[in-house]
Amino acid sequence: MGTCNQGLGRARRIGVEPTPPLRMCMLSRFARVARSALCSSARACSLALALVLVFAASASRADDDLLPFRVEAGAINEALGGLSGEAARGRALVFSRTANCVLCHQVPGGDSQAMGDLGPPLDQVGARLNAGQLRLRVVDSSRINPQSIMPAYYRVEGRVRVAAAFAGHPVLDAQGIEDVVRYLETLR
Ligand code: HEC
Repeated sequence: MGTCNQGLGRARRIGVEPTPPLRMCMLSRFARVARSALCSSARACSLALALVLVFAASASRADDDLLPFRVEAGAINEALGGLSGEAARGRALVFSRTANCVLCHQVPGGDSQAMGDLGPPLDQVGARLNAGQLRLRVVDSSRINPQSIMPAYYRVEGRVRVAAAFAGHPVLDAQGIEDVVRYLETLR
């Protein structure tokens, strides 16, 4: 570590860029400091490393993760990936902190005081819209109303102010979309 500092001091004094070996030396010193600051034990350290790797892998997932779908006449008529949804799971997602539909919609069975009203109430939505129409609205409502403030739940590109946890992948996966659609169909 000392040689690192001396080398850096010398490079500064004589006004030259640190050489690549010196850079490596500083880098490994930084890694050592970070490791000792972050890792209280060897096990915590390998756990932290594993988490970083998992995060890196998920962060590198991109748009091509999305299953292809066809939009026709205001609807996505085929279930994403041919998956079938489950209403109970869909209901849980609608109330979850992840999808947070109740931030903007009144949904039956919830605490109406705690739910928002930026969007229409969803209590009869399964009678108003069919599964294909519901699917397109949850996948990407901007395809119906380009000014929509409703988040696109199955899109990666072109979103604004995306939380770090959702960068590079959609808010809901294909199964989540199908679960939510199945639940919305029951609201009638
Ligand atoms: C930030 C607010 C917001 C959030 C969060 C939100 N929506 Fe919406 N939603 C809207 C608005 C506003 C509309 C009205 C149409 C438009 O402007 O796009 C709408 C319309 C809809 C419609 C069509 C309703 C109708 O009667 O035509 C459905 C279905 C819907 N939302 C479902 C959901 C579901 C399911 C979620 C969560 C996965 C959700 N929304 C999250 C704001 C939101």
